[in-house]
Amino acid sequence: MTAQQDTPPSRDGLFRTKTVEQSIRDTEEPEHALRKSLSAVDLTVFGVGVVIGTGIFVLTGKVAKETAGPATALAFVVAGVVCALAALCYAEFASTVPVAGSAYTFSYASLGELVAWIIGWDLVLEFALGTAVVAVGWSGYVRSLLENFGWHMPDVLAGPDVAKGFISFDVLAFALVLVLTVVLVLGMKLSARVTTVVVAIKVAVVLIVIIAGLFFVKAANYSPFIPEAQPQPSGSGLTAPLVQLMFGFAPTNFGVMGIFTAASIVFFAFIGFDVVATAAEETKLPQRDMPRGILASLFICTVLYVAVSLVVTGMEHYTDLSVEAPLADAFKAVGHPVYAGLISFGAAIGLTTVCLILLLGQTRVFFAMSRDGLLPRFFSKTHPKYGTPYRPTILLGVIIAIVAGFTSINELATLVNIGTLFAFVVVALGVLVLRRTRPDLPRAFRTPWVPVIPVLSVAASVWLMLNLPAETWLRFGVWMAIGVIIYFAYGRKHSRINEPVGRS
Ligand code: ALA
Repeated sequence: MTAQQDTPPSRDGLFRTKTVEQSIRDTEEPEHALRKSLSAVDLTVFGVGVVIGTGIFVLTGKVAKETAGPATALAFVVAGVVCALAALCYAEFASTVPVAGSAYTFSYASLGELVAWIIGWDLVLEFALGTAVVAVGWSGYVRSLLENFGWHMPDVLAGPDVAKGFISFDVLAFALVLVLTVVLVLGMKLSARVTTVVVAIKVAVVLIVIIAGLFFVKAANYSPFIPEAQPQPSGSGLTAPLVQLMFGFAPTNFGVMGIFTAASIVFFAFIGFDVVATAAEETKLPQRDMPRGILASLFICTVLYVAVSLVVTGMEHYTDLSVEAPLADAFKAVGHPVYAGLISFGAAIGLTTVCLILLLGQTRVFFAMSRDGLLPRFFSKTHPKYGTPYRPTILLGVIIAIVAGFTSINELATLVNIGTLFAFVVVALGVLVLRRTRPDLPRAFRTPWVPVIPVLSVAASVWLMLNLPAETWLRFGVWMAIGVIIYFAYGRKHSRINEPVGRS
């Protein structure tokens, strides 16, 4: 180790950082250590397992119908490019700082404690609400399957998306999150094995949509490929994209701007590749396997999304697409209910892994924040037998299950998106900062063309954020303000950076 690497962390102020070496040392304390058992293939499976989900199975139809028409495929390309830029930055960070916590840990080592807290708090929003959203989507597909067999769930147990009454609790979404919590408490390896099987089913179903669907594509449905811009029905208020309000445009759907609005929504379909980075500490060879896992899962998903959206908008005119189960309903529309049933089944199975991995990412971020003392350290004791952070897993699992029971999907997805894009901005800036402050650190993966790629990544992420509704910005601002208050009231005082060097 060089003298510079042994330099103690900066201890003063909001920008005090935890050194990379200190981050790695913390993971080696036996009672706070996670088991290292994952390979690059496990990580890719994790990535694909979490990435393909509600985004492609549910949001595609809504976005094609209301915002972009057949050009939804282009929206997926735009969102995919934004994610690829971010992935190149994530991969460098993940391979340089191979400890749990994702963008949170990386920012702690580069941008300072306050930024790290902000990003950790932001990731709590991304993963917790993301888990809830996907659980509710899953429950919708399961109910639709049950209806195929003639069993109708009472509205009062079908959740607020279905029942508009005062009391409605989505019992299926609630139960799913609880079951997955138990799986996670029992250990990574079990969940990785279950995930592998489920991911295979999900990818098979997506391939069925693409291959079988190709036979029903009609060229006429692609006309117009980019429908003309239309005024938004209720677009004068906070529901309009911020960028349109900022520049004084009358809010519109469709047209070229519609592609970007659509991209900012279908971006949800890509969320999760960054979760791969949260498992760095549990990876056998993080320096090599992390970048491979992240980039491979992102590439596979982008290709599948573009293909699925082209096929679906080619099978049915975009104005006729269903917004609840567009992939299955497109097959019903061309007279193939058996395919539709299969697709619904695969979607229900697939969304299970999405939920599982988002929940996993969530507990790992919370674990890392607790280990650093920014949240109570009670939460970072791992289970003596299973080696998992069972306390935050159980606490968060129960809270998310309740949120999923009472929450409607609408609006939450955009809130998840803004939080994730914000994390991308911080990670890209972090790459630039760490290259300057710690040029000596070994980097198994280096982002190409620095500073061009990180700067483009920041610009692209901010652009998508600006295309989200103004009300999403407001909600995000409130959430972050609460986080900053908690940091100053608790985290700042209890941070382990306050402890003397050489503490046990
Ligand atoms: N990307 C995940 C999904 O589409 C979160 O559901």
